[in-house]
Amino acid sequence: MQAINSLIFKLSAASLFSAVLLLPIMSFAHGDSSPDAVKKEVHVDKNLPLYEAINSSYLANIKPILEKKCFDCHSDSTRFPLYYKIPGFKQMIDYDIKKAKRHINMSKDFPFISHNTPLKDLESLREVVIENDMPPLRYVIAHWDSRLTKSEREAIIKWSEESISKLREFRYQ
Ligand code: HEC
Repeated sequence: MQAINSLIFKLSAASLFSAVLLLPIMSFAHGDSSPDAVKKEVHVDKNLPLYEAINSSYLANIKPILEKKCFDCHSDSTRFPLYYKIPGFKQMIDYDIKKAKRHINMSKDFPFISHNTPLKDLESLREVVIENDMPPLRYVIAHWDSRLTKSEREAIIKWSEESISKLREFRYQ
């Protein structure tokens, strides 16, 4: 009896776990037909002095944080987890990465590769960090140390706000 009980427990834990993981996929299902799928990448001149200045503070203070906690999805250097090989997970992870990079690809530093302007990217970066929306919950479940700490969140918010005001002051986009 005990064996059966523990089996039932394991099964329900497993289905709860997969439900949590699959939920976002269902809500993303419309993804590929959404308008942002057809948006083109925005080309910016990375050599403009103000972008360069913002990038140098990015490299010093922000990139080390994002590298640890965001690059698996938002860059070309994903560290794939062991369960990537399990059917179902692979598709889910590939889909996430594709979608994440289509929004913001951080591989080439600031300005990010994106279909939005650098100013818009900073605004959405600030917002997701304030709202605690990133990394997504399904990723945090599998990588507990991927949550942003309080001081990391403060650093990103400060950097994005300072950069937003500089860009606005000089009427950059
Ligand atoms: C598990 C993959 C994954 C990780 C890890 C991840 N993201 Fe994302 N991110 C996504 C996806 C997918 C999207 C596309 C929007 C959506 O569907 O939720 C996205 C979108 C975004 C956006 C754009 C939001 C918008 O409104 O356009 C920002 C900014 C962002 N992520 C920042 C981050 C930051 C900062 C981190 C690290 C702290 C991070 N992400 C970690 C998957 C990820």
